[in-house]
Amino acid sequence: METFDLIVIGGGPAGYLAGERAGAAGLKTAVIEKRALGGVCLNEGCIPSKALLNSAKIYEYALHGDKYGVTTTGAAIDHAKVIDRKNRVVKKLVAGVQAQMKHHHVTVIMGEAKIQGKTADGIQIVENNEMYLAKKLLIAAGSVPVVPPIPGVKEGLESGFVLTNREILDLKEQPKELIVIGGGVIGLEMASYFNSIGTKVTVVEMLGKIAGPTDNEISKILMDNYAKKGVQFKLNCRVTAVGANTVTFEENGVPVTIEADKVLLSIGRRAASENLGLETIGVELNRGAIVTDEHLRTNVAGVYASGDINGKSMLAHTAYRETEVAVNHMLGKKDRMRYSAIPSVIYTNPEVASVGETEETAKAKGMDVKTVTLPMSYAGRYVAEVERGDGICKLVVDNKYNRLVGVHLIGSYASEIIYGAALMIETELRIDDLKELVFPHPTVSEIIREALFLV
Ligand code: NAI
Repeated sequence: METFDLIVIGGGPAGYLAGERAGAAGLKTAVIEKRALGGVCLNEGCIPSKALLNSAKIYEYALHGDKYGVTTTGAAIDHAKVIDRKNRVVKKLVAGVQAQMKHHHVTVIMGEAKIQGKTADGIQIVENNEMYLAKKLLIAAGSVPVVPPIPGVKEGLESGFVLTNREILDLKEQPKELIVIGGGVIGLEMASYFNSIGTKVTVVEMLGKIAGPTDNEISKILMDNYAKKGVQFKLNCRVTAVGANTVTFEENGVPVTIEADKVLLSIGRRAASENLGLETIGVELNRGAIVTDEHLRTNVAGVYASGDINGKSMLAHTAYRETEVAVNHMLGKKDRMRYSAIPSVIYTNPEVASVGETEETAKAKGMDVKTVTLPMSYAGRYVAEVERGDGICKLVVDNKYNRLVGVHLIGSYASEIIYGAALMIETELRIDDLKELVFPHPTVSEIIREALFLV
């Protein structure tokens, strides 16, 4: 039985980064992955969706170039070729992760790991009749799509009519009509892609707004943009049944049935905590997610959990940071996880990016805040590049300490700008200090500087 200083269950962002960091620090480390190194993010989530969305963006530029003095004829998008390119991108990045594992002398075991128990020497892990001993264990097994007990959903998944993020990113043929159940991040990014390439898209969302926790005004701008592009939104509509080629939902108490050739189910994800053998060592769960502290420790000594499996913030970049904190703790280095300045992005066109509190969440916490909202058109580069753009930048400021607690953007480059805002919040600099920062000109990021001067 081979003993490792650290065994990591799961080879997604939380898992492979643990391999890199622990390997670099000289720990004898193994990463066990049952499906594909890189996890959901690299194989069927963040990266492939970005490849698709970029193709769609290029196509849209070609179609609407006339607004910018560029005339194109015969612009077309070939969905199958887009998928081929996406596959090449994924392959390249997976190979990169493999190379990193090798570089850091991490043992990669392809197979399904199961926790079997605990001895004084460590935690016993079984993979394919092979037993390993882990002095420390990091559970980074990720999440799976939520499948609701709505009649017909299970059958739809089996028949291929209903897709999750995994299948939709591999769809070879472009559907003519797509119904998206759930207007959250996955739903909106996929609605964006398929709308751009000419599929008729209907988004059915149970709440009164799309994009869940996003600032209300920004969520409305995003919806208006896509409504103009032809996406149909059915808000306050709960799906009640899925048929062979139909979806039924309730609209104002009346059942409505619509047809499509495919359905995307994107109503959230849940921690993949089943079948890991967690009960054999008594790992504490809260509604299926592993309970962790600020060092990503579970209630069991020597056992940590990072990434989606702890259900705190299901984002790859959160997973990266959590993993670093966990590995640092194993190495006896001082570090702790903070969740207050984690940016989030929706890669639609326009992009949405936010960090920290919205006006609503700040007020709910009893904070005394004010907001400043500016149209993106206050930034010269935005006007130069975006015809009739309606993006905005919103700052949420804590009056008590005169500092930023939230930044919310909708517009071009928002995804690339937001980390600067996260830094401003994380470092707790005062508004007066932030005003002294020099921003490059002309950039869309200057909108934050403009807004700071209005606080
Ligand atoms: P989500 O939680 O973002 O959105 C789910 C939506 O479905 C919510 O708006 C909810 O109200 C709605 N819903 C729930 N039940 C419903 C029903 N029966 N009928 C109609 N609507 C219903 O979940 P999503 O989009 O599946 O994404 C899963 C996870 O993946 C998220 O936690 C997200 O953080 C992550 N992700 C992040 C991305 C990014 O950072 N750009 C991209 C894609 C996913």
